[in-house]
Amino acid sequence: MKALKIPLIREGTVIDHITAGQAVNVLHILGIPGTQSSTVSVAMNVKSRLVKKDIVKVENRELDPHEVNKIALIAPKATINIIRDYKVVEKHEVKLPKEVVGIVHCSNPTCISNAREPVKSRFTVITADPPRVKCYYCEREPEDIADRII
Ligand SMILES: Nc1ncnc2c1ncn2[C@@H]1O[C@H](COP(=O)(O)OP(=O)(O)OP(=O)(O)O)[C@@H](O)[C@H]1O
Ligand SMILES: [Mg+2]
Ligand SMILES: [Zn+2]
Repeated sequence: MKALKIPLIREGTVIDHITAGQAVNVLHILGIPGTQSSTVSVAMNVKSRLVKKDIVKVENRELDPHEVNKIALIAPKATINIIRDYKVVEKHEVKLPKEVVGIVHCSNPTCISNAREPVKSRFTVITADPPRVKCYYCEREPEDIADRII
């Protein structure tokens, strides 16, 4: 059988070491599929040392800090590799700030951040890996952060 090769990217971003099972959530964070037509490759449950990981490769795209913070919330070991002229020219490990503002929705319906007032959601990071956050206002800890990302 002919093997299907994953194409190398000339310019773009490789998000490597994604927690196995989170690739679809990473795509969602990046707005893929969207209106753009760049090539995207996804590998799931790839063997990496003793554990398994997912990988997402996006052509002609760099991530903004907001997107990187969102990825850190679901894949704390992810690395962001910037590709230029087929080579990795930059590599960053994702890092969660002490607080995340406006990127996670509080699951408490009576929380002030869910009221009509223009109060942005605000979460304190308890631990980065595994990612655990609690609401700054009502202290509620979301069960599945991935489902709560705005
Ligand atoms: N031009 C490219 N197109 C697509 N993927 C690429 C390209 N260059 C590198 N990669 C992928 O980007 C990731 C990082 O590449 P790198 O060469 O830094 O590997 P590495 O040394 O294994 O990195 P790490 O230590 O972070 O695991 C790998 O998954 C690699 O397959
Ligand atoms: Mg590697
Ligand atoms: Zn809350």
